[in-house]
Order: sequence, then C-alpha cells, then structure tokens
Amino acid sequence: MKGIVFTELIEMVEMNLGLEIADRMILNANTPNQGAYTSVGTYDHMELIRLVVALSDATQVPVPQLVQAFGKHLFGRFAELYPQFFTGIDSTFEFLPLVESFIHVEVQKLYPDAELPTFRCEQTDERFEMTYQSSHPFADLAEGLIQATVEHFGDELKIRRTDLGEKNGTEARFTLTPSSVPESRATQTCLN
Ligand code: HEM
Repeated sequence: MKGIVFTELIEMVEMNLGLEIADRMILNANTPNQGAYTSVGTYDHMELIRLVVALSDATQVPVPQLVQAFGKHLFGRFAELYPQFFTGIDSTFEFLPLVESFIHVEVQKLYPDAELPTFRCEQTDERFEMTYQSSHPFADLAEGLIQATVEHFGDELKIRRTDLGEKNGTEARFTLTPSSVPESRATQTCLN
C-alpha cells in the first residue's frame, strides 16, 4: 500500500486528535518503522490495519467508523493534491465511474506498485451502483470516499451498502439513489 495513505492517516490523527494520540497509535501498532512513512514508499497494508486497530484502542471509536472518517479525509486530500481529476466534473454520478476507468489507471501509471481495487459501475437515470472488490479489506475506506464524493459535489443522495462474498470487507456494493426517489423505482441497465 502506498505511503501516502499512511502519511495522511497520521496527519489526520495529529490534526484532529492531537500528537499524543498519534504517538500512542504508532507505538501500540508496533510497525517496523515506528511511523516513519514516506508518501512514495510502499508498505504492507496490514500495517495500516494495525495502526487503525491501535487508534481504535486509544480512542474507543470502532474501527469501521475510523476507517470511514479516514476515507473522507483522504478524499479531501486527493482533491487538493490531484485537482486535474476534478476539472470539468460537476456531479457524483459523473465522477465515480472515472475512479475505475481513469483516475486509478493514472494512479497506477504514476505508482506502478500501487495495489488498487476494482470497481464495477452500473448506472440508470435514478440509481448508480458501484461494486468494490479488492485483495484488501477496505470497503469502509471506499464507503468514506464515496460519502465524501457526494458531499463534495453537494448532491442529495442516499448510500446503501451491501457486503458481498465473504463479507470481510473485500467486496461490497454501494447503491446511490437520489434522496427523493424510492429505491424500488430504479431499474438496472449497465451503461459503462
Ligand atoms: C482523485 C481521486 C483519487 C485518487 C488520486 C486516488 C488514488 C489512490 C491511491 C494513490 C491509492 C493507494 C494505492 C495503494 O495503496 O497502493 C488508492 C487506494 C484506494 N482507492 Fe483511490 N483514489 C481516488 C479516488 C477514489 C475514490 C472516489 C474511491 C472510492 C470510490 C477510491 C477507492 C480507493 C480504495 C478503496 C483504495 C484502497 C485500496 C484497496 O481497497 O485495495 N479512490 N487510491
């Protein structure tokens, strides 16, 4: 997993919860480099999980909640660091399909050793479905990133999550519907 994910987690904790909690998280996670990550380095994704579990112990906030909050933070940072992926994009439904078809493709070119998830998208007039699949159990991170996307574009959308496969966080479907439309009216046609 790319170091940017680690450096952003540590920065979020330092900013929102303070240096003491950040230090306790790093100490208790007992990672090989004691929190000395560089944004271009590559590290075992299990280290991220250990950090979040240690943070959960330190704060008594459940892990899924922490990972979702981190997803929201990460989205804000991506928007700052990679403005080119947002140029000319006005809505959640325009942006989300680009994660698989363009953004992560470019990320992979930039960092050939990035281990990215796959997203399958299906869209109709009233509903957008995005199915996450990864070798890592980061569906909570995807959920936070999707929530942040909706907030970023100021759309009024409900997000429903269905865990799939082994239901261990490596596979999940996110269904986005306008807050005003009952879900039963939506139909399924794949447009991309
Ligand atoms: C400008 C927008 C984005 C950029 C630049 C970006 C970039 C990245 C990068 C650099 C990683 C780390 C790869 C690695 O650890 O090896 C990553 C991972 C990830 N990205 Fe994105 N991403 C963006 C938007 C999104 C959005 C909107 C979603 C959700 C719909 C998403 C879902 C994920 C997930 C879940 C991972 C964790 C890896 C995994 O689950 O296997 N990304 N992304």
